[in-house]
Amino acid sequence: MWKNTEVARRLGLAVPIIQGPFGGAISSVDLVVAVCESGGLGSFGAHHLDANGIGDVASRIRARTSGPFALNLWIPLDDADDPRIDDAAFARNAQLLQPYLSELGLQIPQRPKRFAPPYAEQIEAVLAARPAVFSFVFGVPSQSVLKRCRALGIVTFGAATTVDEAITLEQAGVDMIVATGFEAGGHRVSFLRAAEESLTGTFSLVPQVADAVRIPVVAAGGIADARGIAAALALGAQGVQIGTAFLACTESNADSTHREMLFSPDARYTGLTRVFSGRLARGIRNRLMNQLQAHAAQIAPYPIQNWLTGMMKKAAAGQERSDLMSLWCGQSAPLLTHRDARSLMAALVKETSLITGGWASNS
Ligand SMILES: Cc1cc2nc3c(=O)[nH]c(=O)nc-3n(C[C@H](O)[C@H](O)[C@H](O)COP(=O)(O)O)c2cc1C
Repeated sequence: MWKNTEVARRLGLAVPIIQGPFGGAISSVDLVVAVCESGGLGSFGAHHLDANGIGDVASRIRARTSGPFALNLWIPLDDADDPRIDDAAFARNAQLLQPYLSELGLQIPQRPKRFAPPYAEQIEAVLAARPAVFSFVFGVPSQSVLKRCRALGIVTFGAATTVDEAITLEQAGVDMIVATGFEAGGHRVSFLRAAEESLTGTFSLVPQVADAVRIPVVAAGGIADARGIAAALALGAQGVQIGTAFLACTESNADSTHREMLFSPDARYTGLTRVFSGRLARGIRNRLMNQLQAHAAQIAPYPIQNWLTGMMKKAAAGQERSDLMSLWCGQSAPLLTHRDARSLMAALVKETSLITGGWASNS
């Protein structure tokens, strides 16, 4: 029975389907609740939130579902938690975007005090909220954080883009691995080698990780329908994490311009780029991506570039300018048919049962 995997049993889920977290204010309580109430694990990407915001999200989810859910953070890489940059360097970075800011009727912004909330406060807020799952990307939390998670009964999910990263996570004591192939929408969450050197597809990565570690593996990247779920389970995964197909649902906090683009013919043409955030990420190719690519060497590091284009995205969305915003999207977007998270979940469950039931009756 495909539903009864180690991931489903450990988390008390009806089905081992995880809605991938979205950072950058694209997660929503509505989406988490819809997935939890449909028997899966809803996740909320909280890396843009401060401690109060994280506590508030957890309370709002709990008020609407008793199901388990995940809170997700980004582990700071290098000095990304609070980068040192002087005003002159910031002005040079912002200048590169000046033509696009003008098109959107925006001024070059002032440098903010911080580009993202402090991780140390975020992690305390996650522990205080005590979600069923703490999932994280871009590294490994400290031993003391992992120990406190174990003491609080919080299951930890670490993301791996290579076999080496999966082994590192297991050796650190992380409970489950999200093996993330390069088909996935959003950021390449590599932390041992450069993201550009860690580009393995889900079909190769999942069985290699499943062979290399003893802890359960969740497959992510390119899974958008029941065929993908069945394939991932056959490759040795104990669960799947689906992002783009949930991003496209009206319950997500992606703005309507972005969601419509996921169903457009342009979604066949995604690319991996650093130009939107300073880190490698997959999105639909558009004018901003193509033109900034010519200036790749001048792109500010994360989180500075992420902050700059994030500010632009709000204005671009309001003006329905899909050419001037990041359009995060995985390679399987052309498979999408559902715009409602509950109907997506129902179809995934029913169709995966049909496929895997067929396997049983053929044997
Ligand atoms: C817009 C967007 C934002 C994302 N943000 C995060 C994040 O903050 N943390 C995280 O662990 N994964 C993040 N992801 C990855 C997803 O949770 C999921 O693993 C991935 O989308 C799966 O691949 P798929 O898009 O092919 O389904 C993001 C993905 C997208 C599309």
